[in-house]
Amino acid sequence: MLILGIETSCDETAAAVVRDGRDILSNVVASQDRLHLPYGGVVPEIACRAHLVMLLPVVEQALSEARVQIEDVDAVSVVHTPGLVGALLVGLTAAKTLAWLMEKPLIGVSHLHAHVYAASLNRAEPVFPCVSLVASGGHTCIFHSRSAVDHDLLGSTLDDAAGEAFDKVASILGLSYPGGPEIDRAARKGDRDAEHFTRTRLAPGSLDFSFSGVKTAVLYRCRGQNARAPARELSDQERADIAAGFQEAVVDVLVEKLLAAARSVSAKRIVVGGGVAANSRLRERLEQAGRKRRLEVIIPPSRLCIDNAAMVAGIAYHLYRAGRVSDLELDALPTAGRPVRKA
Ligand code: KG4
Ligand code: ZN
Repeated sequence: MLILGIETSCDETAAAVVRDGRDILSNVVASQDRLHLPYGGVVPEIACRAHLVMLLPVVEQALSEARVQIEDVDAVSVVHTPGLVGALLVGLTAAKTLAWLMEKPLIGVSHLHAHVYAASLNRAEPVFPCVSLVASGGHTCIFHSRSAVDHDLLGSTLDDAAGEAFDKVASILGLSYPGGPEIDRAARKGDRDAEHFTRTRLAPGSLDFSFSGVKTAVLYRCRGQNARAPARELSDQERADIAAGFQEAVVDVLVEKLLAAARSVSAKRIVVGGGVAANSRLRERLEQAGRKRRLEVIIPPSRLCIDNAAMVAGIAYHLYRAGRVSDLELDALPTAGRPVRKA
C-alpha cells in the first residue's frame, strides 16, 4: 500500500511516499530555517506563507522521487495535530483536496505519535511495545507506546519543551537559530563539569518535565542575577562550557525520567524521536544506559528525528489498517487531541 504523507505543523514543509508503513520511497523536507533565522524563532505568519508557496512543489518532488503518479497513491495522510494552527491548515487543506479529488482515503495523524513511529521506518525488527520519548521544539512527552497506534501519555513538560530550551539558551549565548545543533556543536569543545546548572526533577516519581528553570539559570549566569548586569562578551571557552553544562543538565533529566518510565511499565525497549533526539550527548548517554540496563534503545537517524513526512505516511498505514480513517470534517487541533493521561 502506497501512502502520501504531508507535514506542515511548524516550520518544515514536508512530503513523502512510504510503502506498507516501512519502505521510504521518497522523503522531501523544505526547511524554513533561513526565513526564521533573523527573528531567532519561528514566526507563525512567515511559516504559513512559506508552506503555501512550498507545499505543492514539495508534494510533486516527493511523487517524482518515488517514481509514482498521484493516481498510484492508495491514501493521503496529514498531520492535523498538534502544531501552529495556520500552518497545520495549509497541509490539511491540501491533503483533503487531494483525497477528495482522487477519491482516496484521508488519514489524520498526530505529529507526536508520528515522531515515535519514525523508529520503525526502514526497520524489519519490532519497535513496539516500548517506552518512547518525543523531545522537539514544541513538545517533550513520554509515552507508553503499546503499538504504532496506541500511546498512553506518562509525562510531559509543564513549561518549555526541551528543544525550546536549547533554542533559547543558544540565543542567550549568541549562537544562531535553530539552537539545538549549535549547542551540541559548542558543547563538544566545552567541559561539562565546569558550569553546573540545577536539574528540575519535580515531585518524587513524577515523569513530567520543567526546563524553564535551567534556561533562566543560564540567563542569570550570563547577565547576572535577574539579568540586571550589563551584557558582557563571553569567551569562546566560557560559551562552550556553559553549553556543555546546560546540555548535560537537560540530558540528565531526559535520561533519568525515560529510565524511570521504562521501569514503571517494565518496558524492554526505549524509542526516542523529535529534533532533540539528534543530540549527540543524549544519544551517547542513552546508548550507555541501555547497555547497562539491558534495554534496547532505538533512535532513528537524525534526518528521521527532525520533522519529516515519512514518519507521517508510515504511521498512517497502521491507522488505516486499524480502521482509523478520517473524513473531510477533520480539523486542525493546535493543542487538543492531547492523549488522555493514564499514569
Ligand atoms: O521535531 P523538530 O524538528 O520540530 C518540532 O516538532 O519542534 O524539533 C526541532 C527542535 C529545535 O528546538 C532544535 O533546536 C532541536 O529540535 N534540535 C536539537 C538538535 N537538533 C535539533 N536539540 C539538541 N541537539 C541537537 N543536535
Ligand atoms: Zn516535530
